[in-house]
Amino acid sequence: MSASLGGKRVLVSAGPTYEDIDPVRFIGNRSSGKMGFAVAAAAAGAGADVVLVAGPVQLPTPDGVRRIDVRSAAQLREAVLGALPADVYIGTAAVADYTPRQMAPGKIKKTGETLVLELVRTADVLAEVAAHPRRPALVVGFAAETDDVERYARGKLAAKKLDLIAANRVGVAGSGFESEDNALTVYWQDGERSLGPAPKTELARQLIQLILEKTPA
Ligand code: CTP
Repeated sequence: MSASLGGKRVLVSAGPTYEDIDPVRFIGNRSSGKMGFAVAAAAAGAGADVVLVAGPVQLPTPDGVRRIDVRSAAQLREAVLGALPADVYIGTAAVADYTPRQMAPGKIKKTGETLVLELVRTADVLAEVAAHPRRPALVVGFAAETDDVERYARGKLAAKKLDLIAANRVGVAGSGFESEDNALTVYWQDGERSLGPAPKTELARQLIQLILEKTPA
C-alpha cells in the first residue's frame, strides 16, 4: 500500500516576487520557481488538491494544479492567506524581505550622482501562516543560506514556529537558485534528513514523501 495525500489540500508558494520601483523598474531575485513547481507537481502526483501561488516565472502549470499568479510580496500574501484553510503549506517562494516605500508614479529620471531608495519590510507570509487561526497542520519553510546552514535554518524553524524547514546552500556551483539539481537538508524539532543531490523533480518527490510521513492522518 503506498501512502497518499488524497483528500488533503496542499498550498504551495513559488518563484520570486517583483517589487516595483517605478513603472519600468523593479527589485527581484534569481529564484526560478522550479523547486516550487516541482513540489506542487509532486503533491498533485501524490493525490493532493494543490493550489500553487506563483510569482513571476515562465513555467507551465503542473497537471492537476490550480495556479494563482502574483507579482509582489503583498499580492503573494493576499493570495496565500486567501487560499486558507489548507492541510499543508509549503513556502518555497523567495519573497522579497523589503519593498520600496512607494512606487514612483512616473519613470524616475537620472538627476544626481547617487539615488537613495527607501525600502520597508514586507510581512513574513510563512510566519503569518504558521500563526494563523486556521493554521495548516503542517507548515514547511525553505531557507536559502550561504553559510552556517543548520544554525540559521533551525533559528527560522523556531522563530517562525514551523514544523519543517528545508535548507539549501546557495552560492555553490550547480546547486540552488537557477540550477536543475539541488540538495536539501530538512530539519524538524528533533530530527533531520538529507535529500539529494538530485534533479529538482526527484528532490520534490522525496520532500513530499517526508511531508506525507509527517502529516497527521
Ligand atoms: N518568507 C515569507 N515571507 C517573507 C520572507 C520570507 O513567507 N516576507 C518565507 C520564504 O517563502 C521561505 C522562508 O520564509 O519559506 C525563508 O525565507 P528567507 O528569506 O530565507 O528567510 P528570512 O526569514 O527572510 O531571513 P533572512 O533573509 O534574514 O535569511
